[in-house]
Amino acid sequence: MLWVLVLLFLHDASNAQSLANSFFAEEGTHPGFVTKINRKAFKIVADQLRDRVVRFANVDGLEFNITAPLTNQVRFTLQSSRVLFFDEKAFESSMLIIPQKGLAWTGSNLNFTLLANFQLLTSQGEITGNVPLSFDRTNVELLLWTGVNSDGHLKTDLITCKVAANGLQLQFSQNDAALLANYLPHMQNFIRQTIEQVICPSFHSELVPVLSNRLMNTPLSAALFEQYFLNYALLGPVDFSADAITLKHRGNAFGILRQGRTRLNDFRLPYRSPRMDVPSGDSGHMVDFYLSNYTLSSLLFWMDQYRRFDYEISRSAQNNTALAGYLKTECSTGDICAGTLFPALSSRFPGGEVVIKSHTVSYPKLVLKKNNATVYIDSRVDAFVQQGERTRRFLTASMNAEVKFDKVNFKNFVLHADMRIDKFKISDVASLVDGIDEGSLEFLVNALTELILNEDMAKKLRGGVQLPIMFDYTQMGSQVEFEDDLIHISADFCSAEKCTTTADSKDMNVDYYDTVQG
Ligand SMILES: *[C@@H]1O[C@H](CO)[C@@H](O)[C@H](O)[C@H]1NC(C)=O
Ligand SMILES: *[C@@H]1O[C@H](CO)[C@@H](O)[C@H](O)[C@H]1NC(C)=O
Ligand SMILES: *[C@@H]1O[C@H](CO)[C@@H](O)[C@H](O)[C@H]1NC(C)=O
Ligand SMILES: *[C@@H]1O[C@H](CO)[C@@H](O)[C@H](O)[C@H]1NC(C)=O
Ligand SMILES: *[C@@H]1O[C@H](CO)[C@@H](O)[C@H](O)[C@H]1NC(C)=O
Repeated sequence: MLWVLVLLFLHDASNAQSLANSFFAEEGTHPGFVTKINRKAFKIVADQLRDRVVRFANVDGLEFNITAPLTNQVRFTLQSSRVLFFDEKAFESSMLIIPQKGLAWTGSNLNFTLLANFQLLTSQGEITGNVPLSFDRTNVELLLWTGVNSDGHLKTDLITCKVAANGLQLQFSQNDAALLANYLPHMQNFIRQTIEQVICPSFHSELVPVLSNRLMNTPLSAALFEQYFLNYALLGPVDFSADAITLKHRGNAFGILRQGRTRLNDFRLPYRSPRMDVPSGDSGHMVDFYLSNYTLSSLLFWMDQYRRFDYEISRSAQNNTALAGYLKTECSTGDICAGTLFPALSSRFPGGEVVIKSHTVSYPKLVLKKNNATVYIDSRVDAFVQQGERTRRFLTASMNAEVKFDKVNFKNFVLHADMRIDKFKISDVASLVDGIDEGSLEFLVNALTELILNEDMAKKLRGGVQLPIMFDYTQMGSQVEFEDDLIHISADFCSAEKCTTTADSKDMNVDYYDTVQG
């Protein structure tokens, strides 16, 4: 058993994060979960960016301000003024994953005429005026890369902006052309050399923030609920391949406990992440998450460390009058209570109340099979009778419970599920009271499960398991499937303005939910 005994005292989560990572990312570590953003997803990004370009191109055109020497004595400055013409129809927007290189957005068929202010500064003086600048069938490409920035945050940023210009022209009026005749070839040369400075700044400032915000923009861990956190740290660089972007995450849950002002972070786990084989084919969805049993298991492990699977069933613990009656060792004829189920109990401990406590004897174990996820929880049960101030144990037993997940769904990057005790088995009963055996205890626990335990169990994962928001668009539908040794989550998205029509045409899709609105 791999018990790594370290307690780390840390001041902030990002620090904790990097320690957690460097600590665990040893040779041969397998991911706890894997994210895939498939080629299909980039269609909605490209559409969104097209709308954005059309908006700024029609309103502001391109913003630029370039100065350069034309000759040793002459400086030329060209400043944007306004847009005269932008060919909205001809313009196309597309996005591609470039294997090993990153993500590329391409705007093609830019067909623009812009009005620019020019200034020519010579030793004889200054000439200023306006000149239309035009180009067509021009392509601009933004190449982006996703990495972990200095704040320990996953971020997508611009690497290069490239322009393939065509039909570049400064259309001087006849008068200006005559006046500037000596400089015209220099100017045409100037504009060819500086076209990236004309085009790139606007595309950079208008599009890159959208891309940085919407794509793979996430801290590398997240608070789940209560004191549980999930480690999203990557096991290697983001993998760009033609069909998908793949990210392998450490994927262990961990606990942060506050003790006074100190935060105590604990990453110990009694097991390593198992090997995970992620299907390579196209899932047909935009985003896929593949979770090995490790991610959920480590969460269950920490919940167990915080005693979330231990129970006390007693009048005081539940504060429920119906239950209080049920736990009595004596009750009136016709009523049902512990004493009627176990007559020996009432004769031996008259006027008492039963208290049942269970505590786990090891951490929960998760087994994932096709269409079937089961959590095994092994506990020891102690039963006591309380008579006034006196409490006496009358029974111990083992209880093995099988817990299932109900109402499993994935919404806004949170995996939700109710937990439900599906069955349990009582064994090794050591009883001090005649007539109490496995069978009778099972009967009792069964009733209690119906009454109390399942209601509590259902809410165990109430906060859900937050997965990284890798693709920040409006979710349209999702599915969660249990496979052999993994949970496969897939989801599809739409981009704000386009959601209404998409949702309308998907009326038959039960997965589409209320938040999809125009
Ligand atoms: C353009 O750039 C020059 C120097 O590079 C600067 O002096 C000028 O203020 C700028 N003009 C505008 C409108 O930004
Ligand atoms: C660009 O737009 C102008 C004006 O509509 C048009 O004359 C020209 O053919 C267009 N160029 C291309 C390549 O579409
Ligand atoms: C996860 O599943 C694999 C294969 O069934 C198993 O070997 C491993 O012990 C499981 N891990 C945990 C933490 O339950
Ligand atoms: C028990 O329940 C009663 C009424 O439902 C409530 O007034 C009381 O505060 C509860 N006591 C505890 C300890 O929760
Ligand atoms: C689910 O898996 C568990 C453990 O592998 C098994 O005991 C149970 O019969 C399975 N249930 C179904 C419905 O296949």
